[in-house]
Amino acid sequence: MTNSLDDRYSSSKQILASRGQSHVLRWWEELSLPHREQLIHEVETIPWEMIGPILESSDLVSPSSDVLDGLAPPPVYPHMPAPEAEQEYEEAKSLGCELLRTGRVALFMVAGGQGTRLGYDGPKGEVIVTPVGERSLFAFFAECVLAARVRYQAAIPWYIMTSPGNHERTVEYFESNAFFGLPKQDVSFFSQAMLPAFDGQGRLLLGAKHGLALSPDGHGGSLKALVAGGALADMRKRGVEVISYIQVDNPLVKPFDPLFIGLHKKTGAEMSAKVLPKVDDLERVGNLCTRDGRVVLIEYSDFPESLAHERNVDGSRKFDHGNPAIHAFSVEFIERVVERSFQLPLRRAKKIVPFVNDEGQLVAPAQPNAVKLEMFVFDVLPLADRVLLLEIQRADEFSPVKNASGVDSLESAQRDLVRRAYRWLEDAGVSVPYDHSGEPGATVVISPTLALESADLAAIRDRLPSIKQGDSIYLQ
Ligand code: UTP
Repeated sequence: MTNSLDDRYSSSKQILASRGQSHVLRWWEELSLPHREQLIHEVETIPWEMIGPILESSDLVSPSSDVLDGLAPPPVYPHMPAPEAEQEYEEAKSLGCELLRTGRVALFMVAGGQGTRLGYDGPKGEVIVTPVGERSLFAFFAECVLAARVRYQAAIPWYIMTSPGNHERTVEYFESNAFFGLPKQDVSFFSQAMLPAFDGQGRLLLGAKHGLALSPDGHGGSLKALVAGGALADMRKRGVEVISYIQVDNPLVKPFDPLFIGLHKKTGAEMSAKVLPKVDDLERVGNLCTRDGRVVLIEYSDFPESLAHERNVDGSRKFDHGNPAIHAFSVEFIERVVERSFQLPLRRAKKIVPFVNDEGQLVAPAQPNAVKLEMFVFDVLPLADRVLLLEIQRADEFSPVKNASGVDSLESAQRDLVRRAYRWLEDAGVSVPYDHSGEPGATVVISPTLALESADLAAIRDRLPSIKQGDSIYLQ
């Protein structure tokens, strides 16, 4: 028997009062029935066991609790193997191909973020990312999946995590584009959970008179969401063993990298991560390290400068292990972590959050006014008994769309897509024109359906057009 709204209201009121949050229901009398239902539902789903201790703590925006003692550089598989390791890399690649061919790999993309820095009003995956050919991030990734399905002759399932604010629009986008030619049953969407924001006194903020100010619970929320949204059960049914984890905003990422997938499996890793050599000591990128035999990630803002500047005897950077947020997981590991209800740390950040003030007006502050809570997927790393780390080359695999302009923007990602196409063409023996500043003189992007990596172009060298100054070509 379900409780009446009156009963639910009474018990919510009691709980809120006991937590010093009675203001949440202050507009109750003027709300419509559907709005009352919405508000009560939100109150009932507040994860008090997670956020209660934070709301009651005296230091709401505490500095990170990361332990910074005993950090050491982690062991990493280099991008190119030493001669004695060549065989191991070859075997790993074959194993990765075998796992792909036998349908034991799934693609998992997190796309639930709000993309505040980019400022695009909609799911980031809709943003047109190719400077020619009009492919959105989602469309470009769909071409990767299509290409992998052809190459490996397997139904590679693609799971996309959204959040309540962009879920419907993401699904509609795929539907209106006929799933970009992919079978509908192999593309699925599920939403992550939300967490409430609060002010400097630990009072929950209202985003409307009938609702809390909620935001997605971070990419770390993906572990629980994989289970809650039914994706993990679906993977099990399909016989998936390895999950290739990518983020929606990096068009250069290789979603199906046989070497990475193969090394992950061959070494018995539970979670794996690609590793990015840093552009400078203080690059704003998370640092992969080891501590007490476990791999941990220390955010750039917490990473001691003295360590960032440390050098090896040959002069190279000692801590040179940036995190591009590209992972592989074993299905069992995620099951184990979620089953044991492990709680990832809630990271806190001061952000601008519009809120309803005591007079009932919606205020859009100019300065950060609220604390938002998020979980990060890299906080799972220390839980894994075995972690495989593989170094990548930035120019080939990493150029995220984060900001509206400048570093890590749409413009830089587009530039890097063209630069990569140029390198691949030159590797295949195609001559390409440059302008007077040494930059590409034509706008060329290679569709993943034509080549998933540089070596694929060499095989079709004779079919490639010649590229002239000023050309704009989406090669497919
Ligand atoms: P970012 O941390 O860069 O966040 O996400 P964002 O939402 O894209 O951008 P800002 O910080 O608001 O400007 C990295 C990846 O993690 C996903 C994003 O969609 C992106 O693929 N993500 C982030 C989620 O899926 N859920 C979240 O709660 C946060």
